[in-house]
Amino acid sequence: MITKPPTLLITCALPDATNTRAAREFTVRRKPQGVDLRSFLASAAAGADAILCSPANRIDAASVGKLPPTLRVLGTFSVGYEHVDVAALHQAGIAIVNTPGVLSAATAEFTLLLLLAAARRASEGERILRAGKWAGWSPAGALGTQISGKNLGIFGMGRIGQTLAGIARAMGMAVHYRNRARLPPNLEQNATYHDNDASFLAASQCLALCAPGGDATRHWLNAARIARLPAGAIIANAARGSLIDDAALVAALQTGHVAAAGLDVFVAEPAVPEAYLALENVVLTPHLGSATAETRNAMGHLVLDGISAVLAGEVPSNLVG
Ligand code: DGY
Repeated sequence: MITKPPTLLITCALPDATNTRAAREFTVRRKPQGVDLRSFLASAAAGADAILCSPANRIDAASVGKLPPTLRVLGTFSVGYEHVDVAALHQAGIAIVNTPGVLSAATAEFTLLLLLAAARRASEGERILRAGKWAGWSPAGALGTQISGKNLGIFGMGRIGQTLAGIARAMGMAVHYRNRARLPPNLEQNATYHDNDASFLAASQCLALCAPGGDATRHWLNAARIARLPAGAIIANAARGSLIDDAALVAALQTGHVAAAGLDVFVAEPAVPEAYLALENVVLTPHLGSATAETRNAMGHLVLDGISAVLAGEVPSNLVG
C-alpha cells in the first residue's frame, strides 16, 4: 500500500537543504511572501499534519485556533520558543519541537564577536573609514578596551553560555556566571558561580546575555542592575532583545557607564530602537547569532527529524516539554 506523505505547512523561508528534504518527505504548503500568517492558515491549513515556523512568526492562541484537528506537531526553526503559545498548542494536542544544541557554537562565537567588536570600536571605525574620514593611523586613535584577561560575566549558563565560557577561557578571561542552578564541576570548569545578581554584576567587566527570553527574564538588565556593573563595562546580547530594558541601556551608553554594547537581537524585530542607531558605541547586527550555513542546515535537519518522529508516534529528543 502506498501511503501519502504527511502535509507540512511552512511559514518561513528556509535554507535550500531544509527545503529539499522537506519536499522529499512531505507534501509542502508554503506561505507565500507578503501573505500574512492568519490568512495563510485560514486558506491552507485544512487537513495538514504539521507546521514549520520561525521566531519571525508569532503563533498566538488565535493562530492556534486556526489550526485543524489533524495538526499534530509544530516545529520551530529556533531554540527559543517564546513566539509560540505553548499552553494553547498543548491544549490543542499539538506537540512542539525546536532546535536545541546545534546552534551553540555559532551563537557563542557570535556573542564573543559582538563583545570584541564593541570593545574595540570596530563598527565605529568602519563607519569612519567608509565615510572617507579616516585620517590615518595614530598612537592616540580610537582606543578601545582589551577584553583578554578581563572578567566575563555570563548570564544564563546553558549550552551557549558554556561554549562561550570555553572560548573566553582560551582568551585568558576569568568566567563568572549567574544561572538558575550551579553547574556540576565538569561543566563549570572553574567558572565562578554567583547566587545573587549583586556580586555577579560587580564582577562583570564584560557581560554576555545567554539566557532564554520570556516573562522570567524580561528586562532583567534594567537600570538598577546596570548601575551595579563596573564603570566602563562592555555588554553583548545575541540571546533575546526582551532581556534588556532598552531605555536604561541607552542612558548608560550615553553616560559611558556602559562603554559599549554589541546587540544582535531586539524586542520588535526587524525594528531597532532609534536611540541605538544614534549611538557610536553600539554594534548592531540583524539577528545573525546562528547564521552560518553549517548551523542553519543542522537546525533544519533537527527540526524535520523532530516533526517526523512525532508523526511516527515517537518521542523526539527535541520535544518541548
Ligand atoms: C534561536 O534559535 O532561538 C535563535 O534566536 C535563532 O538564531
